[in-house]
Amino acid sequence: MKAIQIVDLSGPETALREVDVPEPEASHALTPGSGVVVDVKAAGVSFPEVLQTRGEYQLKPPLPFVPGSEVAGTVRSAPPGSELSPGERVAAFPMLGGFAEVAVAPEFLTFPLPDELDDRQGAALILNYHTAWFSLVLRGRLEAGETVLVHGAAGGVGTASIQVAKGLGARTIGIVSSDEKERVAREAGADEVVRSDAEWREQAKELSGGGVDLVLDPVGGDRFTDSLRSLAEGGRVVVVGFTAGSIPEVKVNRLLLNNTEVIGAGWGAYAIGKPELNRETGVELAKLIASGHVRPLVGASFPLSVAGAAEALQLIDSRGARGKVVLDVG
Ligand SMILES: NC(=O)c1ccc[n+]([C@@H]2O[C@H](COP(=O)([O-])OP(=O)(O)OC[C@H]3O[C@@H](n4cnc5c(N)ncnc54)[C@H](OP(=O)(O)O)[C@@H]3O)[C@@H](O)[C@H]2O)c1
Repeated sequence: MKAIQIVDLSGPETALREVDVPEPEASHALTPGSGVVVDVKAAGVSFPEVLQTRGEYQLKPPLPFVPGSEVAGTVRSAPPGSELSPGERVAAFPMLGGFAEVAVAPEFLTFPLPDELDDRQGAALILNYHTAWFSLVLRGRLEAGETVLVHGAAGGVGTASIQVAKGLGARTIGIVSSDEKERVAREAGADEVVRSDAEWREQAKELSGGGVDLVLDPVGGDRFTDSLRSLAEGGRVVVVGFTAGSIPEVKVNRLLLNNTEVIGAGWGAYAIGKPELNRETGVELAKLIASGHVRPLVGASFPLSVAGAAEALQLIDSRGARGKVVLDVG
């Protein structure tokens, strides 16, 4: 089968190679001897793959390897006893190996893909939406009626978080850096959109009537202190990522003075080893798909080729991604 490998750690422009490799067996590292084999139609591209081309991501497989954490496609084979059947459309999370014509995922990280979503949207579903659910609900304790401020609101995690928060009955304020990204955040369903180069903290306080209840932050960097300052009493900042590059530090007296919290949300490390949690999250997200709240925004798609994958990774790396970036495979 055709696949794209990372062969060195020289970055997205030069680290990729197209290869012809044997198809994977029906066995995944998380479930040895068992796995769902998927004929891939679309593969999601995300920030971790950019980092993997430089050896900067926590998951560092030996070189060369096929990256690609998530795919959409059809089931070729499922383990005995599985509710999945051959030919069924699914979204799946192989963790690695998604930039290929065939991938294998654990059964508990493979979810039926409803007709409302096309293959590209299916490839945008698991990483961002499971992260959004985990960060907002399980870590952030979001409740209906609360106000959520989402940084990077036109990005993959950002658009997903806006949709999940809206589906849970929250009010959303998106922070973005450009007109075009403002349009994307609004398309995702943000109630309000504020520009990161404006006085966003003051605007967020005004729009929320005194302070927001939750900040979801995949960006980090120097805006972190203002995130803390934008909280209402009892407010929480959920730390999801650091696309701005630097890791913020907190003066904890701020937390004491305003009765606020900073909460870490690392979906992969927490969820990957917990099959039941993934199934439950899948059920909750299926409800939000059925209610029309979850509709992944796909901003750009490229072919499964060295040039296509390199362009996809560079788009994310250069801050140019709108919603999700995908590779068209099948
Ligand atoms: N904790 C978890 O479990 C988990 C799970 C999934 C992803 N993540 C992490 O979450 C982060 C966001 O992922 P994503 O897929 O949403 O990425 P994305 O689609 O590229 O969006 C990230 C957003 O960050 C903002 N940004 C600010 N400064 C930036 C810079 N210097 N370079 C690039 N972007 C910058 C951009 O928005 P503006 O231009 O509007 O500022 C951009 O839209 C990544 O760090 C990823 O590794 C964490």
